[in-house]
Amino acid sequence: MLFIILLTVLSSVLLYIILKPNNYWKKRNVLQVGDIMYKFMISKLSMPEICRAICDKHEVEAIGTSTGTVQTLLLKNTQDIQAVLTGEFQKFHSRGFLINPNDILANNLLFINDFQKWKIIRQKLTPVFTSARLKNMFYIMDRCARDFVDLVDDNQHLKKKPYTLVYTYTTAAIGASVFGIDTQAKSTMNSPYVAMMWKALTPTLKANLILLTANVFPDLYKLFKLRTLGDYEKQFIGIMKTVMESRKHDTQKRHDFIEICLELKKQGLLKDTTSGYELEPSDEMLAAQAFFFFAAGADTSATVMHFALTELASNPDILARLHKEIDEVFEANKTDEITYDDLDKLQYLDMIISESMRKYPPVGILQRICTRDSVVLPSGVTVEKDVVCIIPVMAIQRNEKNYPDPEVFDPERFAPENVSNIKKYTYLPFGEGNRHCLGGRFSRVQIKVGMARLLRRFTLTPQKLQPIAFEKSAFGLRAADIFYDLKLRDF
Ligand code: HEM
Repeated sequence: MLFIILLTVLSSVLLYIILKPNNYWKKRNVLQVGDIMYKFMISKLSMPEICRAICDKHEVEAIGTSTGTVQTLLLKNTQDIQAVLTGEFQKFHSRGFLINPNDILANNLLFINDFQKWKIIRQKLTPVFTSARLKNMFYIMDRCARDFVDLVDDNQHLKKKPYTLVYTYTTAAIGASVFGIDTQAKSTMNSPYVAMMWKALTPTLKANLILLTANVFPDLYKLFKLRTLGDYEKQFIGIMKTVMESRKHDTQKRHDFIEICLELKKQGLLKDTTSGYELEPSDEMLAAQAFFFFAAGADTSATVMHFALTELASNPDILARLHKEIDEVFEANKTDEITYDDLDKLQYLDMIISESMRKYPPVGILQRICTRDSVVLPSGVTVEKDVVCIIPVMAIQRNEKNYPDPEVFDPERFAPENVSNIKKYTYLPFGEGNRHCLGGRFSRVQIKVGMARLLRRFTLTPQKLQPIAFEKSAFGLRAADIFYDLKLRDF
């Protein structure tokens, strides 16, 4: 019943917004285009593609628009982008996603608007991703990568759905890095978390409506105390509590996220020494962070692997050079082993991953909300309080002024001798500034070991695959319906 009321109210208010003239940006001498949420709703395109089309059409530094009732500014000037993401961080510390306090799982790092709370959680979680920690955690990811390759080998049915395959690997690897390896299970790919997380993260009509309300009608969202992830709260927090309880007296070092949670709980109140702000490391708060690792990491990392494999199938020369690099590492070891330090030797693979994230950024737009009265950006545009700034990552990374022949997949752009040619703030797959992705290094390790093991045993049938249409997504670039063919290599 609540949703029928919500749907009626939403449609009427949306109609009102669409019909109502909006001159907010015109009045401020900024080029104004129509509401992007409306464009998103009536077109088949993803939001990053919509922003790209607008940016490519208009040769100006910034473009004014709206997202429902929210005034929105699309930024193209790299100095403006630098100011918003880095220089003026205090004024743009929040992404402006609304979360009701009762939405426990969603109230995690990505969504947190409260500066103090974000700062203390970010401080405490940053050490999870240091090189030393990742090195210790490597055995978990490597075990998952081995099981992933066996899964490809054993499961002909899944081989026909390559995106599902790589998504199984990344979800299971995050599951094992968060909760530890289940020693009873034959394969880490049979992880119970895979099905649960996919269910929780697959957008439903209800979830989309709630997200739309939060973005477009924040007051309604607050009034109805809507929750984005409410349906999974009990189950996920329950699992977290059970695993933490079972591990309390475990003396074996496992290097997973649960171990870090237990350390944080032992420390008691989390305290910011500069401001004196305190936060209790409750099970709920820690579960929200763990949940978010899946939400932020599984689909994004799978997308990188999927598009990289798509381009490798289309570019046999690049694939051959990569096979050679991977074979050299395994052959030097004279065993089936690969170590954390070997990942540094896979430099060409690194370049391929970087180019994949350039051409297909898994997060195709970034956003920040202005939290102070008004800020004048370097290009001269004034941003007032509550205006949302969108950084159109896909548009920037596919702009020929930044990357010549942007539609060509060319890993050489990221060769050590060329990388310094990339202009600052034109390569943003992990964002930038204090709120840049916390899991960037983790995901590179996960992707590299997964790809290395996969392409040691398998190769790709050469075929021209050109992803030109993407799924309708509010932030990401996805194309699960591309089918490359993985076949066993002849040695
Ligand atoms: C290739 C994989 C990934 C990509 C492309 C990616 C991309 C991003 C982007 C674009 C942001 C927003 C940055 C900004 O607004 O400036 C972000 C934030 C974040 N990501 Fe990732 N991510 C990936 C994997 C991961 C993984 C594996 C984890 C955790 C295990 C993770 C944890 C986070 C967190 C915690 C934030 C929020 C940081 C904050 O607000 O302080 N990400 N990610």
